[in-house]
Amino acid sequence: MSGRLASEYPSWKKLQQLYESEHSKLVLKELFAQDPARFEKFSKEYVSPDDPSVTFLLDYSKNLITQPILDTLLSLVKEAEVETYRDKMFAGEHINTSEDRAVLHVALRNFDEFKISEAGVSEVSGVLAHMKEFSDAVRNGTHKGYTGKNINTIVNIGIGGSDLGPVMVTEALKAYSKRDLTAHFVSNIDGTHMAETLRVCDPETTLFIIASKTFTTQETITNAETARDWFLETAKDKAHVAKHFVALSTNTKAVTEFGIAKENMFAFWDWVGGRYSLWSAIGLSICLVIGYDNFEQLLKGAHGMDKHFKTTPLEKNLPVLLAVIGIWYNDFYGAQTHCLLPYDQYLHKFADYFQQGDMESNGKTVTKGGQRVNYQTGPIIWGAAGTNGQHSFYQLIHQGTKLIPCDFLAPATTLNPIGNSKHHRILLSNFFAQPEALAFGKTEEQVKQELGPNASQALVKSKVFEGNKPSNSIMFPKLTPATLGALIALYEHKIFVQGVVWGINSFDQMGVELGKVLAKNILAQLGKPEDVKGHDSSTTGLIHYYQKHRKE
Ligand code: F6P
Repeated sequence: MSGRLASEYPSWKKLQQLYESEHSKLVLKELFAQDPARFEKFSKEYVSPDDPSVTFLLDYSKNLITQPILDTLLSLVKEAEVETYRDKMFAGEHINTSEDRAVLHVALRNFDEFKISEAGVSEVSGVLAHMKEFSDAVRNGTHKGYTGKNINTIVNIGIGGSDLGPVMVTEALKAYSKRDLTAHFVSNIDGTHMAETLRVCDPETTLFIIASKTFTTQETITNAETARDWFLETAKDKAHVAKHFVALSTNTKAVTEFGIAKENMFAFWDWVGGRYSLWSAIGLSICLVIGYDNFEQLLKGAHGMDKHFKTTPLEKNLPVLLAVIGIWYNDFYGAQTHCLLPYDQYLHKFADYFQQGDMESNGKTVTKGGQRVNYQTGPIIWGAAGTNGQHSFYQLIHQGTKLIPCDFLAPATTLNPIGNSKHHRILLSNFFAQPEALAFGKTEEQVKQELGPNASQALVKSKVFEGNKPSNSIMFPKLTPATLGALIALYEHKIFVQGVVWGINSFDQMGVELGKVLAKNILAQLGKPEDVKGHDSSTTGLIHYYQKHRKE
């Protein structure tokens, strides 16, 4: 984040040399055979400094690294002054330089521990109290709908960071949810998303949460207006909106203009990035679903990881370790993607969430100083819950031509021990087997032995697993709100470290603007073919096709 080109650091050059000289020797099978203590050396147990029950194991031994490589990667972190920039972030300095903003999601889960001075920070506890009061009132039936009925449905209307975090966390912590409160999340401007949701909602018992940092996002405001019209068709009186619509935003003026009273607005501040906002008022839907106490546990779990990140030496600092291992593959091995594979159905939205978290943060081509980078920045993030992925895309990870570093995550204990935990034992046997298969593969000799002397050479070759595919494994005792908080913060800080090393600004998102502007212009031209002006022949042709075939 210094804005320097990463390729100028001495350690970067050394890593290039190390890659050239070592990569053909980095064979996991041999590295493990040479060093019986490899697992002990390259794994660490995290224990929250605040709560020993919040813990997980990070095993990074199945990576194509040696101690000298890791040491050089950590020197790179030093040279890029990651610790200085980390401290600047925690101190509230405006490290989001293009927008001249502090980056203080850590202040949302701080509980007054780190001293941070920035406008709004002292108001965090007040907003949390408001969230507690309101979510308690809805959950215990004190807050009723306009006809006196209890609220049994919530609809969060938001997109990007105002949607993905709440969706991911409410799914992840479903086991802790109030089962008689149904939560829906409408994000897409496609009317189908809203229409299908409203079909199953009752205006008398539904609460709409309009979640938008700016309160100007076209999708969210259009969806919110549609929801309000739908509600008023039945409720008639605008005064009833107060009981059924609340807003989560930094923009009081726009919220009031929409017709939501100030007391029904939950505030946050410009130093909360959209993709880092689930810890803020944007988490209201999470509070409603799992209750405020569980939401607070989520924050506390993240805060423990913040402390770890802020105070632990680099060589034991888990976000730093994940970050540098990622850089090793991304920038020296040429890996294009990174796969997140939770072996926990509750975490089925984890990869979707970090698609925005990582790709909107580190999908940048210029440094903070405006120079074009001459190396790769953020990877493509993807993944799915195990074991489903095994039956779709794992084939390519095992035997395809691409290197795909993977993170496997799993809880030791399931929250649903059905069949005497038989399901969970099967699930975990896969969680253990996949990284092993990826790392160690299956040789031609083994295949030949299995198939016998008459097997064709082609068949033998098709069954060989080259192995040497790297992965991290993260195992935790149980998926609790605090553990989830710690895991999310782990990845947030990993993204931060990588952004600092690459010299980019991880906290703006200029790349989403151009499409928005063009869409606005096109929207005004959709009427008649002669209105379509100023486009290339392809775009013009597509719009003309639409105009010819539409039936509205
Ligand atoms: O996609 C761009 C973006 O600005 C995201 O960063 C943000 O999370 C999302 O749009 C929604 O923005 P808002 O909360 O202001 O509606």
